[in-house]
Formats: sequence, structure tokens, C-alpha cells
Amino acid sequence: MSAPVYQKTVSAPVNIAVIKYWGKRDVGLNLPSNSSLSVTLSQNDLRTLTTASCSAAFEEDSLWLNGAMESMCESPRLSVCVRELRKSRLELEAKNESLEKIANYKLRVVSENNFPTAAGLASSAAGFAAFAQAICALYELPWTPTELSRVARQGSGSACRSLFGGYVSWEMGEQPTGADSVAVQVAPVEHWPEMRVAILVVSAAKKGVSSTAGMQATVATSSLFAERARNVVPQRMVEMKNAIRARDFASFAQLTMKDSNQFHAVCLDTTPPIFYLNDTSRAIIRAVESINSSVNGYAAAYTFDAGPNAVIYFLEKDSDLVLTTLRSVTQNAEGWEKADFKPVESSEFLNLEP
Ligand code: ADP
Ligand code: DP6
Ligand code: CO
Repeated sequence: MSAPVYQKTVSAPVNIAVIKYWGKRDVGLNLPSNSSLSVTLSQNDLRTLTTASCSAAFEEDSLWLNGAMESMCESPRLSVCVRELRKSRLELEAKNESLEKIANYKLRVVSENNFPTAAGLASSAAGFAAFAQAICALYELPWTPTELSRVARQGSGSACRSLFGGYVSWEMGEQPTGADSVAVQVAPVEHWPEMRVAILVVSAAKKGVSSTAGMQATVATSSLFAERARNVVPQRMVEMKNAIRARDFASFAQLTMKDSNQFHAVCLDTTPPIFYLNDTSRAIIRAVESINSSVNGYAAAYTFDAGPNAVIYFLEKDSDLVLTTLRSVTQNAEGWEKADFKPVESSEFLNLEP
């Protein structure tokens, strides 16, 4: 008889930061230099689907990501998450005699992203949130989302925020162990039912500089970076939380765009400079600026992660204005795809790739 296979499947959504995490104060523990804040999109939209299984028949820990195999022992980020989860399962098995002894079986994790991987649409966030969650489910660990966020954070910092819905902060914490560096929900998605998001896929290509490598180069070489982490972000975190609590779209939009721009300025201040935005990204920035001028205020906010793809936040009442303008600006792009996405409440997914 062949050895039994134990298996669990989960899915985790992407989150897109409006106050960006960029820079580590401790690379080993993956602790950030500043707190950050994001909006978690809906599971129906950009998401990772992950199945974790284990069996006495498996010979090594492995991850199949979008159909390609990676050995887990060669990835310190994957290994650190597995180590913590496995340790917990071992403790659980020691306490509870009736539990199956599966902790030392090798793991096989199969994961698919339904959106471009490593292109600046937070694949590492959804990816590592799903990875930690799937193994936690397989091991039947009685963990809270906060405990899980501490493990996911060590895989990829932004992943800790994908364990909560709605508006989520990642508090940088003070402890050298990172015990207090976890995600916290600022407000649930229902708090702001009018919020919408459009994702503009400018390029699905893998980025030239990964987020991990990019931020380490920034910490090592940018003098603007220290100013941002120390003197800009702490105040912005307070203002952003206030804007969200008050459902103040004008403040939310101003802070979101300023923070995206400062993050890309810090990338430019890195040696050698990192260019994540391209001409299409800049055309989108100008289009949003023109939308906002036309209303003498704020109807839309752009933000770009470490890649050229744009994420636009707006309110339902401004949907026609925002989407019509964005379409006209990008009308020369081929292959637009409009899916009925519902990231925050409902949104648009526009494929601008040539
Ligand atoms: P992104 O902007 O997409 O988050 P990053 O440079 O931060 O790009 O991270 C990309 C890396 O994250 C990938 O090369 C891969 O190692 C990891 N990753 C992406 N998706 C998954 C997944 N579903 N499961 C595990 N790891 C993933
Ligand atoms: C620009 O979380 O991908 O998307 O911790 O090294 O995996 P690692 O980095 P990652 O960085 C995300 C950077 C960002 C901003 C953000 O999501 O806050
Ligand atoms: Co990432």
C-alpha cells in the first residue's frame, strides 16, 4: 500500500501599499526600517492558490511555483517559514498523542498566482501569505492571523499584511527579535464601501531588480532613504490612518501619491539607480494629475510598487470619469482586458501590454 498523502489548499489575496515598505533594519529577521500600510484586494481578483501536502513517500521539501520546481532548502526565505511551522507541529504532536506524526514528513507545496509574478504586483505578498497559511492548515496549528503574519513576514515582508482584509498596517516594532513586528487591521473593507481600485498592467515581465535586492541597495547607498524612514514615514502613517478612519479621500489620495513618488525617488537615489517606472507609468501619472485638476481636487490616486504597473484608487461616484480618462490616455495600447474584478468592492483590470 502506498503511503498516505496529507493535503490542504488555501488562497491568499494581494495587498497594495499606500505607505511603502522599502528597507530592512535586520535582513536576517526581515525587519523593516519603517512601518507601512496597504489595502488588501479581494480573493476573487489577484490571488495565490496554494496546496501544501506531506507524505512519508516524499524525498525532499519542494515548492512548485507556477509549474516550475524549486528546492526549499536552497531558499532561506522558504526554509525559515517551514522551520517555524514544523517546530510548532512537533510540539503539538508531543502534547497530543492521538495526532498523526506528520511533522517530519517532507513537504510538497504547489502554488499558482493568477497574475504576473515578480512584476511589481505583490506576488511575494500573496505568495508567502498563502505558503504560511497552507502549511499552518495542513499542520492544524491553532494560530491567530497575527502569529501567522510573523512567520509570513520572514518569507516576504509585505506578506504579513495579506493575512488581514481591508486596510492593514505593518507596525515596524521595536524589539530586536521582531516579536512585535506584525500586521494589524486598521479598518475592515466594509468601513469604506465606496472605495474602488483599478489595476493597470503595463508589463507582466519579471522585474530586473527584485524587491529584496533593490531595497538592500537603497539602504546601503541612498542618503534620502534615512530621511524618509526616520522623518517622513512616521508622520505619514498617522495621517494615513486618520484619513482612512475619517473616509477622507482627498487626504488618502494625496498621501498615497506622495508616498509612491518618494519611494521611486529613493530608488533613483540608489547607486546604481533603480528604474521601476517606464514611459507608460509616467503617462498614467499625468493622466491622474489631469483628472484631479479637472475636478479641482482628488478623484483618483495612483501608486506603483517595485515595477511599472499602476494601481489606481478612486471612489465609486468617480468611476466613469476615472476609467474613461485612463482608457483614452492608453487607447493606443493593444489587448485591453476588462474583467469584472472586485478587489476592494469592485474594480477594473486593464491590460495595457502591447
Ligand atoms: P513582487 O513585486 O511580485 O512581490 P518580489 O521581487 O517582491 O516581486 O518577489 C518575487 C518573488 O516572490 C518570486 O521570484 C518568488 O521567489 C516569490 N513568489 C512569488 N509568488 C510566490 C508564490 N506563489 N509562492 C511562493 N513564492 C512566491
Ligand atoms: C514596493 O515585501 O516584496 O511592494 O521583504 O524582501 O520580500 P521582501 O520585500 P517585499 O517588498 C515590497 C516593497 C513594495 C512596498 C510594499 O509592499 O510595502
Ligand atoms: Co514583493
